[in-house]
Amino acid sequence: MTEPLLSIRGVTAYYGAIAALKGVDVDVGEGEIVTLIGANGAGKSTLMMTIFGAPQARDGAIVYDGQDITRTPTHKIAQLKIAQSPEGRRIFPRMSVVENLKMGAAVTGYAHYDADLQRMFEIFPRLKERANQRGGTLSGGEQQMLAIARALMSRPRLLMLDEPSLGLAPLIAKQIFAVIAELNRTEGLTVFLVEQNAYHALKLAHRGYVMVNGRITLSGAGRELLEREEVRAAYLEGGR
Ligand SMILES: Nc1ncnc2c1ncn2[C@@H]1O[C@H](COP(=O)(O)OP(=O)(O)OP(=O)(O)O)[C@@H](O)[C@H]1O
Ligand SMILES: [Mg+2]
Repeated sequence: MTEPLLSIRGVTAYYGAIAALKGVDVDVGEGEIVTLIGANGAGKSTLMMTIFGAPQARDGAIVYDGQDITRTPTHKIAQLKIAQSPEGRRIFPRMSVVENLKMGAAVTGYAHYDADLQRMFEIFPRLKERANQRGGTLSGGEQQMLAIARALMSRPRLLMLDEPSLGLAPLIAKQIFAVIAELNRTEGLTVFLVEQNAYHALKLAHRGYVMVNGRITLSGAGRELLEREEVRAAYLEGGR
């Protein structure tokens, strides 16, 4: 078997004295969509942030593309073709849509800026209509599209998304998931998807992990996890 693009082994992370990650093992293979599901406070966002180096892992190892990045500072990780759309979107509210997208292209030195901007407008036509509007005045769904598009402007190999469907109407959430699936299928984009919307996430993902209280308790093929009684009971009640 070839090495996974991202390999997380025995990772712990702390907020002060409190352990948020208690020895986590996760693999993300090149070209895969891997989802991490779990209840509020399980540690999903912490894992994503730990991959990005803040907070730093205390124990264990994070290896990306054969390189140990466990102690690599956040700004260096952003140069490794890993992009993230963090929880709560975090777009720049006073900047226009285009200015936000331009920020995403900074790590590539704007090498493909014009072409990539046009490509984002093709993927998200709504952003084209709103090109000069301030980010903060966009709807929730539009802001989510902007956050994903901004991450894509850096031409990532690995795209990490933290709850892209949070707070969105079901139809908009579905559109966002469809875009992720399409990018994965047509360009082989590797995706690590943190979601509370377990039904859609597991349907979309090749593989999934369930996190409970800082530990992985279950893993397997996305559709296989969807059928598991403990997953259905805990995460799918009314989740459609
Ligand atoms: N900055 C922080 N300082 C202290 N504790 C924190 C901090 N951020 C998160 N925590 C705690 O760490 C635990 C994991 O939080 P985390 O945000 O990773 O959960 P999550 O799975 O992403 O939850 P959600 O689905 O609600 O986003 C929680 O108990 C949370 O209260
Ligand atoms: Mg979270």
